[in-house]
Amino acid sequence: MVAVAILAAGRGTRMKSSLPKVLHSVGGKPMVERVLDGLATLHPSAIFIIVGFGGDQVRAALAHRPDLTFVEQTQQLGTGHAVQQVIPHLEGFEGDLLVLNGDVPLLRPETLAALVSTHQQHHNAATLLTAQFLDPSGYGRVFCTEQNVVTEIVEHRDCTPAQRQNPRINAGVYCFNWPRLMGVLPHLKADNDQQEYYLTDVVRDLHPAMAVDVADSQEIFGINSRKQLAEAYAILQDRIKDYWMAAGVTLIDPDSITIDTTVHLEPDVVIEPQTHLRGQTTVGTGSRLGPASMIENSQIGPKVTASFSVITDCTVAAGTRIGPYAHLRGQAQVGEGCRIGNFVELKKATLGAGTNVAHLSYLGDATLGDRVNIGAGTITANYDGYRKHPTVIGSGSKTGSNSVLVAPVTLGCDVTVGAGSVITRDVPDDCLVVSRSPQQVYEGWRPRHLRQPEADQS
Ligand code: UD1
Ligand code: CA
Repeated sequence: MVAVAILAAGRGTRMKSSLPKVLHSVGGKPMVERVLDGLATLHPSAIFIIVGFGGDQVRAALAHRPDLTFVEQTQQLGTGHAVQQVIPHLEGFEGDLLVLNGDVPLLRPETLAALVSTHQQHHNAATLLTAQFLDPSGYGRVFCTEQNVVTEIVEHRDCTPAQRQNPRINAGVYCFNWPRLMGVLPHLKADNDQQEYYLTDVVRDLHPAMAVDVADSQEIFGINSRKQLAEAYAILQDRIKDYWMAAGVTLIDPDSITIDTTVHLEPDVVIEPQTHLRGQTTVGTGSRLGPASMIENSQIGPKVTASFSVITDCTVAAGTRIGPYAHLRGQAQVGEGCRIGNFVELKKATLGAGTNVAHLSYLGDATLGDRVNIGAGTITANYDGYRKHPTVIGSGSKTGSNSVLVAPVTLGCDVTVGAGSVITRDVPDDCLVVSRSPQQVYEGWRPRHLRQPEADQS
């Protein structure tokens, strides 16, 4: 049985922020939530979040997780003191305690599961993740025997110059046998440079404590500053992009593309430069998105193209071509084989199959059938200054250029709207509707300054 404690009480002074460090987002998610994601395969019996600075904000941000127990550390007296706060909650507990830092958000579930299983197989008192760093400065140094048995951990600031040469660092990720940890945890002393109760001191009295090098040292990247926050985002992006490229997606100029962890792509999708895929977005096989597009919370079917466009909260069916410079938003649903062209905005519009809106249009609160052709500059006037109203256009209808459809209004099937018309009343099936002032011609007319002077009457 495994319980988990996540240390999240520190202020994160170097972030220079009023927001607690663990609530800063990495790739659209607070870092503490990413730490929780690392527990995906462990099924812990309890998860304790040690809160202190900004504790109410941390509780509120994690309110959607009823499986968490928040434990208050009123004074931040060190990482050992933080873990001491769970003692009253684990009376009589016979299992293992996995301790994680709330500012180490890139750990993979496999890594944590492997740490716990190594710990349990060897019946260790403690097992901790380590890495060998070219530049280990700032981290605690781990000293081991040749069999990876830990003898001590010394914080960077407490190291002698010789000790600082040791490249093996403490990741801040530990699995402890709880009954054995209880033999030493209550007796920590704050006899160090910071006068804090260091969790790392317990390894001196736990036998055996074993160090396990992490395979990918980027996983234990800890965030103390805004620069490191940006670096963590870059690591996460590289990971996501490597994953999708291995899964058969082409990324043209990956450095200019961003993809959220929540996005799902099918094989043979091509993402062009400067394109950003966010939120709950899915993209079907053979689609080509970009260059320079943003797609957020949208379901894009197969063989869709979208260039220089923004699509938010929409559904687009197979074979539809979008852009350049189109904006789809507000639950627009575009059917198969449609064409949405330049400077077109769709808001809460539903389009049937094979419908074209090729140039300069706004369609809001509109329902269009199949094979509708919307002429350049057609606008649905859906707002009377107070309420939004619907427009319905039946299958096979065509609107002439520069038509205005004043909602609420319904056009039947196979209607043709004359160019420049303002349609204010419903139109039946199968007809031509024209509503514009008749053309006037004044023969021989000239502007006043070009007219002949009038004959002299005197
Ligand atoms: C700690 C380790 C160090 C390790 C490094 C890895 C100790 C003494 N040192 O150092 O060996 O190399 O992590 O990143 O443990 N926290 C609390 N309450 C406190 C103090 C800290 O909850 O009283 C939390 C912080 O919010 C943070 C985590 O514990 O999430 C780590 O604290 P931090 O001060 O960042 O430790 P490091 O100096 O990085
Ligand atoms: Ca830290």
